[in-house]
Amino acid sequence: MAIIKMKNNTSNAKDVTTAGKVITCKAAVAWGPGQPLVVEEILVDPPQKMEVRIKIHFTSVCHTDLGAWQGKNEAQRVYPRILGHEASGVVESVGEGVEDMKVGDHVVPIFNGECGDCVFCKSKSSNLCKKFRVDPLKSVMTNDGKTRFWTKQGEPIYHFLNTSTFSEYTVVDSACVVKIDPNAPLKTMTLLSCGVTTGLGAAWNTANVHAGSTVAVFGLGAVGLAAVEGARSRGASRIIGIDINSEKLARAETMGVTDIINPLELKKPVHEEIREISDGGVDFSFECAGNLDVLREAFLSTHEGWGLTVLLGIHTTPKTLPLHPMELFTGRRIIGSVFGDFKGKTQLPLFAKQCMHGAVKLDEFITHELPFSEINQAFQLLMDGKSLRCVLHL
Ligand code: APR
Ligand code: ZN
Ligand code: ZN
Repeated sequence: MAIIKMKNNTSNAKDVTTAGKVITCKAAVAWGPGQPLVVEEILVDPPQKMEVRIKIHFTSVCHTDLGAWQGKNEAQRVYPRILGHEASGVVESVGEGVEDMKVGDHVVPIFNGECGDCVFCKSKSSNLCKKFRVDPLKSVMTNDGKTRFWTKQGEPIYHFLNTSTFSEYTVVDSACVVKIDPNAPLKTMTLLSCGVTTGLGAAWNTANVHAGSTVAVFGLGAVGLAAVEGARSRGASRIIGIDINSEKLARAETMGVTDIINPLELKKPVHEEIREISDGGVDFSFECAGNLDVLREAFLSTHEGWGLTVLLGIHTTPKTLPLHPMELFTGRRIIGSVFGDFKGKTQLPLFAKQCMHGAVKLDEFITHELPFSEINQAFQLLMDGKSLRCVLHL
């Protein structure tokens, strides 16, 4: 693990005296697409009804933050904005009506909330929530359509993915916060906010990979490697890892991948190679690169009759599925997976406990650590394909 010069960042806010007050603290503000984030002082309102204000201790950078920052998806249309959706921290204060959390609780914010009351939350068949599902265009609180972040000049700063974790303090709906075991190490728990939960849950919950299954994972970043880990822990007999970055392939081999393919070094389409080495195709493929050509290769790599492709990557509009409808008559199927099909509030606490007890080697996903003030370097590391997750210390 690379630990690159740490220094202590202090906020002028003190937990004990801040409840009900506006907090002044540091946040990394995105002012425009691709512009370096500016770590500056902002004001954070107290939590309103059914909201929670969190002191963020650790946050990490996911490819979705990168896409939003680069302006590659819808999220770029609102500025200034506080990005970030992977984090862990401690409850600083709660708004009216919040009963399942209190000051001092250790928590993980989740972009895919669970209100517990809507038709989706009450259904066993979905982890999407009517009120707090993923919406890259949503930039204000559900309660009153306003922001809780302000510049020192009094201009609103917008929210991102129900979470906005690139800030020393953030305000989120209580449906988007999960209380975890106070003994869980906060540094690794940040990975449960998105990357690890998404990938591992896709293998466990969405695909339900079973012992002896054959699997192909396209894109071996943190999300893809978590899918690998999910497949490995279920006893998959063969896990083929595909990536165009040879360093990612080398790391994947140490994390459970049994065969590696670099499409850039292959003289034929990846799906042909996979079908050859897996007796007609794999049982499950996972698209974790956010690329339509890759999605098509993943689809064609599965076995006719029962192959299932799980889509995890983010694909920007106006793209459509790269398939002819008749191709589904081969018996191959395709499905999307959000937050690994985990219901956040009800299922993440147990998953966090399983991780604490070694179900997933979370440390392996943290390749870099930096002080929060060096967040732009964390973006660069992910962009350059150097990091899985860079955890920022606040
Ligand atoms: N073929 C194979 N692998 C590819 C290709 C390709 N054409 N293009 C990119 N990749 C690989 C990259 O080399 C990288 O290792 O996909 C991996 C993506 O990993 P990260 O950038 O670390 O992204 P991660 O945070 O894991 O997210 C993966 O899920 O959450 C979404 O938006 C996110 O689409 C992204 C995906
Ligand atoms: Zn709901
Ligand atoms: Zn993410």
